[in-house]
Amino acid sequence: MPLVTLRQLLDYAAEQGFGVPAFNIAKMEQGLAIMNAARACDAPVILQASLNVRRTYAGDRMIVAIVNALAAMYPDDPICLHQDHGHDEQSCASAISAESTSIMMDGSLMADGKTSASYAHDVDITAPVAQIAHWTGTSIEGELGVLGSLETGESGEEGGSGATGKLQQEQLPTNPDQAAEFVAVTKVDALAIACGTSHGAHKFTRQIEAIRGRVPYIRLVMHGSSSVPQHLQDLINAFGGEMPQTGGVPVEAIERGIRHGVRKVNIDTDCRMAMSGAMRRFARENPASFDPRDFILSGMDEMDTLVRDRFERYGAAGHGRKIKPVPLADMAQRYADGTLDPRRGAACAERSS
Ligand code: G3H
Ligand code: 13P
Ligand code: ZN
Repeated sequence: MPLVTLRQLLDYAAEQGFGVPAFNIAKMEQGLAIMNAARACDAPVILQASLNVRRTYAGDRMIVAIVNALAAMYPDDPICLHQDHGHDEQSCASAISAESTSIMMDGSLMADGKTSASYAHDVDITAPVAQIAHWTGTSIEGELGVLGSLETGESGEEGGSGATGKLQQEQLPTNPDQAAEFVAVTKVDALAIACGTSHGAHKFTRQIEAIRGRVPYIRLVMHGSSSVPQHLQDLINAFGGEMPQTGGVPVEAIERGIRHGVRKVNIDTDCRMAMSGAMRRFARENPASFDPRDFILSGMDEMDTLVRDRFERYGAAGHGRKIKPVPLADMAQRYADGTLDPRRGAACAERSS
């Protein structure tokens, strides 16, 4: 099956009222674990690669080759290949030319991926990149607002991407009025929003509701959506890890977000924890073992359990085989004739379960 675009996938998810987990991958085994889980519960898949992975770990060619191989191995299970957090035109253009079916132009940060950017910068950089993406039929996710705690102003750095230091309150949550203008001007297919952390559960949902009220037709994306499960923290620490006690976004809070219009749920940390925790346990319990496959297989098993749970809890299970990918050239035509203009979507009702 050819790769599916984010736009097609999230439009379908919006019609049906569910959320699609978007898993970061850096290596083949993570892709295999996710696809095994997806096949078992018939879920559509978003595989995404960070700039760090694309530039300095696996490389673009390797990620694209892995995802295309997975698409051939799992021909009934639709996969979207997404570039996570591009912060400049070049990173997005290279992902389009490497045949990602979706890119993220995160103009909420400057090209260094650290310094928070103005609204004007975000619009000015995202709009032309969206135009180029759409010429090729590629989907684009934009971001408005900066990830971080609404309570403390602490920024929300995630791996290689995220503002550093303390942020002003007005930089943090996505402004619902700006969201409407941003979507109208840039024409992005999906919007990553900043809505605080798990600490302010009610604030968190109200923020999503307010944004959705202004842009009911845009597909909302939640970054930083790992739940950092206690059992995985315990697993890591029981076998020699020293992970300080911490918390993520509870699965229940994400389920509430999905009821309020979140359609893409970004998860990286939880998969890293599952894989490394199980590998630590394997190493401790099998001191004579030295075949890396055995270590990694134990990690894949733990990831499989986690990923299945997220497909099921976020409602994606049971939908994979209902999706038949629309080719990029047809998507390009639909953008060109205005069918996919987000403002047209204003007329479309979205089920809010
Ligand atoms: O962007 C979010 C990911 O967690 C990126 O992590 O840059 O370490 O691959 P990474
Ligand atoms: P986590 O670090 O919470 O898994 O978030 C990942 C993410 O948002 C990738 O873009
Ligand atoms: Zn992110």
